[in-house]
Amino acid sequence: MPKVWIEKLTEDMELYLIRVDDDQIKYFEAAWDIPEGITYNSYLLKLNDAVVLFDTVKKDYEDLFMDALKKLVDPKEITHIIVHHTEPDHSGALPRVLEENEYKAMVIGTQFARNLLEGFYGKKVVENFKVIKDGEEMKIGGKTFRFITVPWLHWPDTMITYLVEDKIIFSCDAGGGYSIPETIDDSSEEVVEKYLPYVTKYIVTVIGHYHKYIVENIRKLKELGIVKDVKMILPGHGLIWRRDPIRIFRHYEEVGAGRAEKGKVLVVYDSMYGFVEKRMDIVIDELKKHGMKPVIYKYTDKVAPAVSDILGEVPSAEAIVIGVSTYEADIHPRIRYLLYEIIDKANYEKPVLIVGAFGWGGGAGKKIESMITRSKFDHVMTVESKGAPSAEDEEKIRDAVRELIQRSLPTGNT
Ligand code: FEO
Repeated sequence: MPKVWIEKLTEDMELYLIRVDDDQIKYFEAAWDIPEGITYNSYLLKLNDAVVLFDTVKKDYEDLFMDALKKLVDPKEITHIIVHHTEPDHSGALPRVLEENEYKAMVIGTQFARNLLEGFYGKKVVENFKVIKDGEEMKIGGKTFRFITVPWLHWPDTMITYLVEDKIIFSCDAGGGYSIPETIDDSSEEVVEKYLPYVTKYIVTVIGHYHKYIVENIRKLKELGIVKDVKMILPGHGLIWRRDPIRIFRHYEEVGAGRAEKGKVLVVYDSMYGFVEKRMDIVIDELKKHGMKPVIYKYTDKVAPAVSDILGEVPSAEAIVIGVSTYEADIHPRIRYLLYEIIDKANYEKPVLIVGAFGWGGGAGKKIESMITRSKFDHVMTVESKGAPSAEDEEKIRDAVRELIQRSLPTGNT
């Protein structure tokens, strides 16, 4: 049974977090393995003459959510519901809230949000919908709510709310991450350190296709002057940020820009019968000789790592090595799917080396090369040969690794 948190967030305001910890989910968006789970964060702000609800939770948990909400307020008293993003992990319980609210509340969001809600839940939920424009302000309960659109983070409907007097950003997906942190906020460095890799994994899998918009939209918020003094960032998933709120946006910017960790090389390969693995042992040995730090994921007849975990490693890698078997004159199916997702979700200007093995006829390496050269990645070399690697193959692989290292270092020095 998922845990539900109800936490008051400030001394001077009746601002509450309602967090549902989804420990039942296995595949976010039916695609991404998340054994670590996820939280859905909704917020409630009770003001003198207004009660504002910020987003809801996934429909699976609407009963739990309604029980928690009713501990804070009679749903009929909710005057405004702000919809930052309509993906059903946040909007799933909205029809139920509105039903129990007797459709009294004004629902606030972008034009896209209105259209999507109508498509998902029918006309009734948008009968009292207020479409906002980028930068529009509304006075609600004596406070100023500024709505700022951040399109493609990660849907076209997405916006954030800035509570002007209190310098609080309600950011929904932006600033979110996977996993179920043991605290609600960033007060413990230990919790934050454990959480941030799940943020990276979340960014790449959920927002990665649009990652250039992360940098653009955070720049937009900075230019509006609302980032430097922000007191709290309240996302729709994971930790809330109030000890060092800017840190989460900084992390998003770094992932969006693909900022690399010095020396990190992502090594991914399949090996059906050990021939690719022999080559990858050479690759790894050569990388280590030059002080590089390989991070290794392999597909064999015993292990199959989650694509979502591998995607989460790409932004911080300086370079990538792909080891591949030719399979039915094509790329091994595991690597084929992985590559498709890497190029779609984590397409960065990073050098890539391809190392392949085949039985009677190659071709996987060339097919990968053609995918890589059409992406933002920088194709360094393809080294593909038959069966077990010969001494000559080994020399070629070591040369190729040295070339990869040269290409991954801005100074060109090892
Ligand atoms: Fe957390 Fe895009 O929904």
